[in-house]
Amino acid sequence: MNILILGSGGREHALAWAVKQNPKCDHLVCAPGNAGMAEIADCIAVDVMDNDAVLKLCRAQAIDFAIIGAENPLANGVADVLRAAGILTFGPSKAAAELESSKAFTKQICDACNAPTAAYARFTELNAAKAYVTAQGAPIVIKADGLAAGKGVIVAMDLQQALDGLDDIFDGAFGYAGAQVVIEEFMDGEEASYFILSDGKNILPIGTAQDHKRAYEGDKGPNTGGMGAYSPAPIMTDAVTQKALTQIIQPSIDEMARRGTPFQGVLFAGFMIKDGQPRLVEYNVRFGDPECQTIMMRLGAQALDVLLACAEQRLNETQINWADDHAVSIVLAAKGYPGSYEKDTEIKGVNTLPSDSKNMVFHAGTKTDGDKLLAIGGRVLNVTTRGSSFQEARTRAYAMVDQIEWEQGFHRKDIGWRAL
Ligand code: AMP
Ligand code: GLY
Repeated sequence: MNILILGSGGREHALAWAVKQNPKCDHLVCAPGNAGMAEIADCIAVDVMDNDAVLKLCRAQAIDFAIIGAENPLANGVADVLRAAGILTFGPSKAAAELESSKAFTKQICDACNAPTAAYARFTELNAAKAYVTAQGAPIVIKADGLAAGKGVIVAMDLQQALDGLDDIFDGAFGYAGAQVVIEEFMDGEEASYFILSDGKNILPIGTAQDHKRAYEGDKGPNTGGMGAYSPAPIMTDAVTQKALTQIIQPSIDEMARRGTPFQGVLFAGFMIKDGQPRLVEYNVRFGDPECQTIMMRLGAQALDVLLACAEQRLNETQINWADDHAVSIVLAAKGYPGSYEKDTEIKGVNTLPSDSKNMVFHAGTKTDGDKLLAIGGRVLNVTTRGSSFQEARTRAYAMVDQIEWEQGFHRKDIGWRAL
């Protein structure tokens, strides 16, 4: 079959790498793709936010199955447009993508199905929001309602920070995303993520992970899209995952179906875990980046079978053959990220590194210029490895990172410190 992967990050390179290994994949197209994806697929430029252009590309390439990587095109309804045109698509409808595109919506779903989460209130007016925050006191969490590229959340440890955060949001710091705010009780505990496929009715868990959101070692510095991840997450024990599935995930999926907006795709649930009890922090409606890199490395060619089963609504007949393995992904980013950084800097040493079922360098913001590999983004490479223990995978990953020569890049040296 002809398969499209929409996106250009490390997440999409990992999806492409796994899908390509499956004999069902005859022709792989990535749009727009990156230098790593270009080695295994045809990359075609497209504006991922232009649904008609994506549909045209699918028709021109006779695409049988489209896999959507990121949240913005999903919130923009690309899956609805492709499905309406008869193209099998992995990813939720615009209506179901509200689980990520509106934090207030997710809270309503939790209320409707009694899923454990932080207590909250919603506001559209600054003074009322400030009065509420002052009455509640700190620590407290302020969230812009809509998509804000992971930047719309302020975990305020004192009252002034909370009030300043509200000023910023109502001043339009997050644009439309801040037209409504959700103010939440601060939850204490350890965070982990769970990835669950849903075909609208049936669910299939495909792995737990933890990531490091802060730019610098010791989980310090500004928030980023993620500087590294590992799977599985030790804190997600069998007992915790069971509670997460029965108390939170399945009831949410059932509630979405009951409303006539079934969720089809991957639900990326973030939990805060304390004393063995998970509470929902947030839902995302796509794979995490770099969490996806670790999960694809563990699934390998099976990934295509399970994504297809999800899109074809037959997850109830599907199983995963798990190995007792561990994967880790280390992000190499441009110095300055998540702020401004230099572009078109040269990276050396990548093409001599191993590239097999246990060791991969997934590309994010890269391009080639003749024989040269150039960095053109903030997060640029994801060195991803798999082993029989976390320690083994991690040691190998850092040994690979050490062979990459990129003066203008940096990485964290403590990925997975909790798991060690
Ligand atoms: P979100 O985008 O909702 O995942 O929020 C970003 C980050 O803020 C989360 O990964 C948590 O570290 C933190 N956070 C969000 N909500 C809460 C909460 N209610 N209590 C404590 N931390 C939170
Ligand atoms: N790594 C976090 C995310 O993809 O949202």
